[in-house]
Parts: sequence; structure tokens; C-alpha cells
Amino acid sequence: MITLIAALTKDRVIGKDGKLPWDIPEEMQHFRSTTKGGVIVMGRKTFDSVGHPLPNRVNIVISGSVKEIPGCEVFDDVQKALERAKGFHKEIFIIGGSAIFRQTLPLADRMILSWVKKYYPGDTYFPGFDGGEWNVARKEEHEEYDIVWYIRKSIMENINAKRGQPVMASTPFDLGCTR
Ligand SMILES: NC(=O)c1ccc[n+]([C@@H]2O[C@H](COP(=O)([O-])OP(=O)(O)OC[C@H]3O[C@@H](n4cnc5c(N)ncnc54)[C@H](OP(=O)(O)O)[C@@H]3O)[C@@H](O)[C@H]2O)c1
Repeated sequence: MITLIAALTKDRVIGKDGKLPWDIPEEMQHFRSTTKGGVIVMGRKTFDSVGHPLPNRVNIVISGSVKEIPGCEVFDDVQKALERAKGFHKEIFIIGGSAIFRQTLPLADRMILSWVKKYYPGDTYFPGFDGGEWNVARKEEHEEYDIVWYIRKSIMENINAKRGQPVMASTPFDLGCTR
């Protein structure tokens, strides 16, 4: 299972000047607790903006210019990075940025998107996606953002077909972890 996790505005802004446009500690805590224990895959610029490997996670960085980063595995190709990520048999989280989200969205099974309510200008965007291809499995409202858990419809159809059940419009997100 490959999960994209991001925070974005309604305009799909995710970044400005190499950083997050906002400072929302509670949302950051959600990111940390969700990805803990998993494999995180990121672009080199996102690694630079974080500045260090995140603890208690396998850190994989994609870069054509940098060969080695202490505490991380570096790959010069998205497919190679994902193959390596799968080898750990842990949850795989694509954590950005825009360049990496764009290349991996077609491969994603799930998305965990924090929709930031306020308007923030930016220069980096989450890719557009067809809402018709995704089921909303869960939604959690917060003061500054709403978290929406999406699961690709084709994944739900496969799971339900294996169980001999009809396709549900909305199914608990955890079902997506059963493959
Ligand atoms: N709101 C959120 O959830 C969120 C999450 C993550 C990041 N962000 C923000 O997004 C911005 C960074 O995003 P970004 O799109 O500019 O950069 P990025 O996706 O983090 O990194 C881009 C870099 O990744 C490497 N790369 C990408 N595709 C590659 C490929 N196919 N093969 C080899 N290397 C490849 C290249 O590194 P080299 O140049 O080294 O070759 C490229 O310059 C920042 O503002 C950050 O704060 C926001």
C-alpha cells in the first residue's frame, strides 16, 4: 500500500519559498504520529526543508544530484525508491513535495489530506486529482484544517470482490490495510 500524505489549501498550495506556508503544530503532530514506524519517501527539496532524517521511520530521499545523506537511503529514480520502500514490509508514506506527489499520485492506493481552511499564498502545489476515483473513508474536523482519508475506489472494489461483498460507497479506512 502506498499512501500520499499532505497538507494543502483549497487551492492545493503545499509550499512557499521551500517551506510550509503555515505553522500548525497540531497538524504536524498528526503527520508525525501517522507516519511513525513506516517508510517515508520524499524529494530532495522536502528533505532540505526538514533538514534532518525523521526519527523512528525509514527515510528514503529521491535526488538526481545528491548521492548520500546520513540517516537516509538516496535513490535517483522514483521506481527504484518505491521498490526499496516495499522491501521493508512497512507502511509506505509519500510525504512530498510537489514533484514527488505528481509522479506518485497514479501509483497511490490511499491519500491522507489535511485541508487547511485559511487561504495561504504559495508557489508549490499538490497535483489535481479526480475525486471520482476515490472513496472518502473517514473525515476528521479540526479548527484550522480537516483531515480526509481517501482510498482508491479500485482498491475497495478488489477488497470487496475478494470478500464477495457489494462495493460500498464509504468503507472504514482500516480496511485498506488488509492487503
Ligand atoms: N504541505 C505539505 O504537505 C508538504 C509536504 C512536502 C513538501 N512541501 C513543500 O513542498 C516544497 C518542496 O516541493 P518541490 O516540488 O519543490 O520539491 P520535492 O518534490 O520535495 O523535491 C524535488 C527534487 O526531488 C528530486 N527528484 C524529483 N523527481 C525526481 C526523479 N524522477 N528522479 C530523480 N530525482 C528526482 C530532485 O532532486 P535534485 O534536485 O537533487 O536532483 C528534485 O529537485 C517545499 O516548499 C516544501 O515545504 C509541503
